[in-house]
Amino acid sequence: PIKKRIVSGVQPTGSVHLGNYLGAIKNWVVLQDSYETLFFIVDLHAITLPYDAPQLTKATRCTAAIYLACGVDTSKASVFVQSHVRAHVELMWLLSSVTPIGLLNKMIQFKEKSRKAGDENIGVGLLTYPVLMAADILLYQVPEALIPPTGARVMSLTDGLSKMSKSASSDMSRINLLDPKDVIANKIKRCKTDSFSGLEFDNLDRPECHNLLSIYQLLSGRTKEEVALECRNMNWGTFKTILTDALVNHLHPIQIRYEEIASDPAYLDQILSDGAAKAAGLADITLNNVYQAMGF
Ligand code: ADP
Ligand code: NA
Repeated sequence: PIKKRIVSGVQPTGSVHLGNYLGAIKNWVVLQDSYETLFFIVDLHAITLPYDAPQLTKATRCTAAIYLACGVDTSKASVFVQSHVRAHVELMWLLSSVTPIGLLNKMIQFKEKSRKAGDENIGVGLLTYPVLMAADILLYQVPEALIPPTGARVMSLTDGLSKMSKSASSDMSRINLLDPKDVIANKIKRCKTDSFSGLEFDNLDRPECHNLLSIYQLLSGRTKEEVALECRNMNWGTFKTILTDALVNHLHPIQIRYEEIASDPAYLDQILSDGAAKAAGLADITLNNVYQAMGF
């Protein structure tokens, strides 16, 4: 039987955080066993706003090493850097030529940023990046979304209402996968909680509580019911200790593997070059079909 294909990626714009891990990378490690998988580092999406070139190179390699450290296995999955597979940019041009500009103009992100910075000061890429995203996916023929039931949205630690993200200004709002033990402990110690007694999922007045319990549940691999039962009479102090331990214990082996991989740049280069060659082989088939369909 032909395996279905899965494509996913993370932007190399900052440190990979717990949201990226629980919402994406941790699931890839399971999916790679039963799907044909391609996991890439979306560096071309990291240049739509002003950026630092050496920092981009560093974050790209760091992100690739984190994929591997988290258990992405290159005997099962292709790991590559988006800019190494030229078909992404090529297909984007072909799709751009037939994309109505009215659709792109509706993008909230673009409207806000162009209003703030002024049309003269922002690049066209900020308007057209959704076309690149379409190319990223369509090149590999996978037009269906797969969203995990829990963990699809890990929230900020400093307010339970915005998504944990690389772009949030405060580093206290997120756990980065490479945060040392004392940093994790401090972030959990200071994270936002509430003054209700006991802990519970799904109380809309307690978004922080739901978020922290969900993180604990995902890390411990237990069911929601088990965690709800374990924590229902707990106070925050006790829960913060077990959450910190769960985070540190889960991330420690990932950090050890990361150090090993990061200490061997030639190994990482080889993996990324093999991954790009495999991805390019698939992408070029689609690209050639598109050229043909468009009359070239
Ligand atoms: P970021 O917003 O941190 O820049 P990316 O755009 O690079 O993240 O997203 C990479 C992957 O991580 C995507 O699959 C995205 O859905 C997932 N992801 C990002 N933030 C979170 C979050 N807070 N909770 C769950 N998944 C997330
Ligand atoms: Na994002």
